[in-house]
Amino acid sequence: MKDVRRKILLNPGPATTTDTVKEAMVVEDICPREKDFCKLLDTVKEDLVKVVHGGDDYVCALFTASGTGGLEAAITSAVPREKKILIVDNGAYGARMANIAATFEIEVVLYKLAYGDYPDVDHIENLLRSNAGVSHIAVVHHETTTGMLNPVQSICDVARKFDVEVIVDCMSSYAGIPIDIKQWGAGYLISSSNKCIQGMPGMVFVIFKKALLPSLRGQKRSFYFDLYSQYVGFEKTGQMQFTPPVQVAYALRQALDEYFVEGEIRRWDRYQENWVTLCQGLKKLRFEFLLPERHQSKILLAVIEPSDPRYNFDTMHDYLYQRGYTIYPGKGAKAATFRLSVLGDLHKRDIENFLQELKDYLDFGLNIEGGKTSNDL
Ligand SMILES: Cc1ncc(COP(=O)(O)O)c(C=O)c1O
Repeated sequence: MKDVRRKILLNPGPATTTDTVKEAMVVEDICPREKDFCKLLDTVKEDLVKVVHGGDDYVCALFTASGTGGLEAAITSAVPREKKILIVDNGAYGARMANIAATFEIEVVLYKLAYGDYPDVDHIENLLRSNAGVSHIAVVHHETTTGMLNPVQSICDVARKFDVEVIVDCMSSYAGIPIDIKQWGAGYLISSSNKCIQGMPGMVFVIFKKALLPSLRGQKRSFYFDLYSQYVGFEKTGQMQFTPPVQVAYALRQALDEYFVEGEIRRWDRYQENWVTLCQGLKKLRFEFLLPERHQSKILLAVIEPSDPRYNFDTMHDYLYQRGYTIYPGKGAKAATFRLSVLGDLHKRDIENFLQELKDYLDFGLNIEGGKTSNDL
């Protein structure tokens, strides 16, 4: 294969991938209607459910789209016309789900918090009590805006009391943080091919309770993102309804194989080791974080931006980017932040090397403590 420079992506996906995942995309041209390809997709669908221990109770529908397409499919397919959806909005991705619902004129009961505040499950219970007609709750598991891990299990427990289904955006947690969907009891889980599963962007999947299938029939608001017809169509024909991203699917197959070889716990341990290394290193460099540790996903850190007037995210980004490290700006959190994620094919030594580059930048480009620039040194 072409020699490709390994870049360290500290943005929360699309992630740094292994060479073997990249190579998996170089395949013979194949018509996606051929049985060989259909078989591949079938195993992908099955294995995606296995990652979250869905057993026979959960099934999977695939779409060609980025993550947002999967959210749109779940929300627009699941909520009946006369019903409402309660959305927990404590970050840009909670807000996105509310925007999707509003676009399709689905009535929303919005639980709006500052980006960085932790949801109060008692308040959710009160909202369910005081708002008749809520059939679904939508919540982001790992809110990538802030690095917060929302209390999905408690929300599912409350939802069960009211016979309400929960839609969980697991875009940046699936295959990173261990998830047992049966234990949650969530109705729908959405994730994409390019985050903790460590594949390439282009596919999104909705894993949902098989028992909900009849309730989805005839309920669609979108032609393309209709969960029912996508799932049932695949069951009948073994094919996706519309052109799949063939090479991305091969990469996802490889990424799943690598996930199962590494294993759920070892992947989590690797991410944890990266995160601890990152946290400790940043603390040494006097950085502070948006969230208390008890609310952290331990996959992404929202780092408070230095108050030094000469600090500039873009300059820091460009310095690090030239050296092979991609960092990520903030996204409307309650304090100004930039973000660093440890998901993807990253290892402790990558994080250590990044910290050294960051230290060099701070020492020679900007000294946070002493306020010196490289010209002063
Ligand atoms: C939690 C969460 N939800 C939704 C999305 C949207 O995914 P996409 O940009 O692939 O449409 C992202 C993307 O980072 C995300 O982190």
